[in-house]
Amino acid sequence: MKPDDHVCICFHVSLRKIVNFCRRERPVRVSLLSECLSAGTGCGWCIPFLKTIYNQVWDGVPSPDLPVSPEEYAERRAKYRITGSRDEPTPIAKPSRAGGPTAGPTASPAAGPPGEPTSPPGSPFC
Ligand code: FES
Repeated sequence: MKPDDHVCICFHVSLRKIVNFCRRERPVRVSLLSECLSAGTGCGWCIPFLKTIYNQVWDGVPSPDLPVSPEEYAERRAKYRITGSRDEPTPIAKPSRAGGPTAGPTASPAAGPPGEPTSPPGSPFC
């Protein structure tokens, strides 16, 4: 998937916007990605993929990505919209490593991927 391809098709939220949101805002829970242009709050298809991207950012992956073409992704989402179920498990979602933001209530919003720049308060979400 390329940076400008849409991960959340319902709200036209690109991979780039989600990655930038994660890096700038450092959400402590994946559900807070909904603050990035409402990603994940429509049909729900993209939620496992949002989790994957979120975990990749927190794991320090230099170029978070989804190993699927935008065409296949959109086709699978269309089937999901019709059937209400996923045609296959989402193998690309994986739990975050220990110490990441999902590790527990001690996770700090100030903590983030190592080596990532911090953004000043009031920076744009995406
Ligand atoms: S594709 Fe993201 S909520 Fe539908």
